[in-house]
Amino acid sequence: MAKKRILSGMRPTGKLHIGHYVGALENWVNLQHEYESFHLIADYHVLTTNLNTSEIYDNTIEMLIDWLASGLDPKISPMFRQSQIKEHAELFLIYSMLITSARLERNPTLKEQVRDLNIENVIYGHLGYPVLQSADILLYKGEAVPVGEDQVPHVEITREIARKFNNQYGAVFPEPEPLLTKFARLPGLDGNAKMSKSLNNTVLLSDSEEVITKKIKKAVTDPQKIRRNDPGRPEVCLIFTYHKRFNEAEVPEIETGCRSGALGCVDCKMNCVSKLNLFLEPMREKRNYYENNLDEVKDILTDGEQRAKAVAEDTMNEVHQKMNLG
Ligand code: TRP
Repeated sequence: MAKKRILSGMRPTGKLHIGHYVGALENWVNLQHEYESFHLIADYHVLTTNLNTSEIYDNTIEMLIDWLASGLDPKISPMFRQSQIKEHAELFLIYSMLITSARLERNPTLKEQVRDLNIENVIYGHLGYPVLQSADILLYKGEAVPVGEDQVPHVEITREIARKFNNQYGAVFPEPEPLLTKFARLPGLDGNAKMSKSLNNTVLLSDSEEVITKKIKKAVTDPQKIRRNDPGRPEVCLIFTYHKRFNEAEVPEIETGCRSGALGCVDCKMNCVSKLNLFLEPMREKRNYYENNLDEVKDILTDGEQRAKAVAEDTMNEVHQKMNLG
């Protein structure tokens, strides 16, 4: 039986952090054998909230290196930029006729962004963010989309657009399902529920051992555990969450030690640093290789874009035919 297709995508915002890995990349790496995957670099989507494109190429390459360092295999799955495959823009135009502006205004992910970024007037392209995302997914006839909770509304809009097209012009597109990531989110080093570049509370996949040690030393823990022997509350401590993800085996004894006061925060943090290092060391080695072989990284993009383009062209031929635009 043919493998199901997935379309996974990220906006290129530069180097990735361990939250990206846990919330998305790890899932992509695990799925790449079971599914036929396409890995999209959503560079046009960046423009919805940032018109300055001076760093967009460098950010793309940094992100791509992190993808490769994390174990995504470009021989199995193409990696490509949205901007290099013009069919994305074309399908986006057609899809923009298949959905109302009222439906897009109700999108909770947009509302959240408008609130978080203090946006006063939403630009037309930002309103259309999920329409472009629908084109990203359906151009490759993606049947599943590995995403976090916040992207589920976009996959729902994708399903509605697919249905509308198929009813109007004839069956071309699947209705994709979201594939939710198990470990939703990692908290940031400042205790914020979300690790994010704009909050400056991240551990990067590319951070050195030294940098990680410094960052973790400064991280917030339970504010009620002031002295070493004070009992602590692991459930409010971000370091405990990191242990849960990167040091599963020792979680019971860390929890007991923290609660009783036998385990101090400094020791607990140093243990966390060493586990993070164990996890990141193989990635650092791979990153190092690709940083020294940038031509290879560029070839991976060129190859991925050729492979993606061929699929996108086939889909658009079908679309044109169904719409009598041949
Ligand atoms: N909106 C996604 C995000 O912010 C990025 C994205 C763009 C995407 N196009 C996509 C994700 C297509 C999955 C499929 O994370």
